[in-house]
Amino acid sequence: MPNDVPVLWSDPELPDGAVVERAGVLLAAGALVAIPTETVYGLAANALDRAAVLKIFAAKGRPSFNPLIVHLADVGDIEHVARDIPPAARVLAAAFWPGPLSLVVPRGPSVPSEVTAGLDSVAVRVPSLPLTRAIIRAAGVPLAAPSANRSNEVSPTRAQHVTALGDRVSLIVDAGPCTVGIESTVVDCTTAPYTLLRPGGVPRAAIEALVGPLRLRTHADEGESRTSPGMMSRHYAPSVPLYLFAEHESPRVLGEVRRERASGEKIALITTGHAPYAAEATRIMPGEPGAYARELYAMLHELDAGGFRRAYVELVPADPSWDAVRDRLYRAAHRE
Ligand code: TXA
Ligand code: MG
Repeated sequence: MPNDVPVLWSDPELPDGAVVERAGVLLAAGALVAIPTETVYGLAANALDRAAVLKIFAAKGRPSFNPLIVHLADVGDIEHVARDIPPAARVLAAAFWPGPLSLVVPRGPSVPSEVTAGLDSVAVRVPSLPLTRAIIRAAGVPLAAPSANRSNEVSPTRAQHVTALGDRVSLIVDAGPCTVGIESTVVDCTTAPYTLLRPGGVPRAAIEALVGPLRLRTHADEGESRTSPGMMSRHYAPSVPLYLFAEHESPRVLGEVRRERASGEKIALITTGHAPYAAEATRIMPGEPGAYARELYAMLHELDAGGFRRAYVELVPADPSWDAVRDRLYRAAHRE
């Protein structure tokens, strides 16, 4: 696809004034701009402008029933997009904003129903990069921003990943690789107890330490309800089929990989550090969850770009510190 969308670079910590201004002007005029955040690149539009918000759904091929997250420059701005904010949600906001936590709270009257897919609640977060917050301030409005990928494809953690959207976006702001690398944790604060809708950048334990045990979504929820359709099983998936395997299965899998490679097939093997067969790995992933998360989507993008027939991916540990990474791996491997 020919692609002459401008890409402008800025340091994420020291925002470039000219880049911020250009992004702000475009956003205020109703255009789509791909912006960096600490989690993944977002496809941003003025959250208060219905027509601009509808462009997001069109550009992503996103079903209209999947609601968007509203991004704010400052914690206090939540008052402009939400109402009846539960005290415990304020506790979470004070503890984790700016940062990779999205809170689902009652929707304020200023937010068009297109943003929330008709729901009476709205997901909000304050992203942590000074650059992202400067762009929101320059736009002068809250920004609706899903991940800047086509619906069901792999989320972008590098500016170059965003080029899959082609000229549906007016500008790409490049601030280098995302430092968290997986999406924000989403907590629904309209239920009692609160519900963990998506594991992500803020660990569940850190949230539970402040507001008590969270309700967890079940498979039944996924099948029955569309309250967080982004949690449908198949999501974040590369086009290369992925097979997850546990360490104890590695002798069988390794035999399989060798046999398939010997017959001329291009087969990827993804392991973490200490595997004895690491020499045969296509890519060795970090053994620590934060570092793994930073590399995860780039690895999946590489699999797609590499023309592999299939990929065998070693499962990450069952420990809670790996919850968000494990969730994304399962979804990437899920076929339906
Ligand atoms: O880290 C992130 O959250 C990134 C960056 C760009 O900020 N954004 C992101 O957006 O991941 P998206 O659209 O890919 O995922 C939004 C998730 C979906 O699972 C959606 O269903 C859920 O948040 N969501 C949004 N509004 C909701 C609401 N009112 N109630 C329940 N779930 C909601
Ligand atoms: Mg997404």
